Amino acid sequence: MISLPDRRRGALDAIDRAVNAERTAGAVLDRTVELLAETFEHYTWVGVYLVDGDDLVLGPWRGPEATEHVRIPVGQGICGAAAASGETEIVDDVNADSRYLACFPSTRSEIVVPILAPARPHAVLGEIDIDSARPAAFDAGDRAFLERVARMVATRLPG
Ligand code: SME
Repeated sequence: MISLPDRRRGALDAIDRAVNAERTAGAVLDRTVELLAETFEHYTWVGVYLVDGDDLVLGPWRGPEATEHVRIPVGQGICGAAAASGETEIVDDVNADSRYLACFPSTRSEIVVPILAPARPHAVLGEIDIDSARPAAFDAGDRAFLERVARMVATRLPG
C-alpha cells in the first residue's frame, strides 16, 4: 500500500514530466487530470475549467460521468466562487452549500483550486475541480498538493 505522501510525490514528479514534455497546454492538462484521477481513490471526478471571458469552460476531465455544467459564469457555483476570488474552495458537504451546482448525485464534497497566472497572481486562468463521493474528502494536504499542481500547469497556459 503506497502512502498518501508518496502518492503525492509520485504525482508531482509525473506532472512535472508532463509539463516539460507534452507538446501543448491541452495535453499537459489532459495528462494532469488523468494522473490525479487514477492516483487518488477519493478524487471521484477530476476536471479543469479554463476562463473564457466571464465564463469558465470545461476542458479535460476524467470520471464516471460527463457533467452538464460545461460553461459556468464566473461568480456562479463553487467553481465560479473560486474563479471570482482566486482562492481555493473546500466544501465538506455540498448539499449544505447553497452555491453548489449539482453535477452528480454521488458527489458529497468538492475542492476547487484556481490556476493563477504566474506573472499576474490576481489573474485566474482556470481551475482544477474535484468531486468526491466521500463526505469531507479534502483536507489541507489536498489543498497544498493541488495548489502546487496548479502552479506547475500554469507555467504552460497562455496568460
Ligand atoms: N459543482 C460545481 C459545478 C461543476 S461540477 O462539480 C463538475 C459548482 O458548484 O460550481
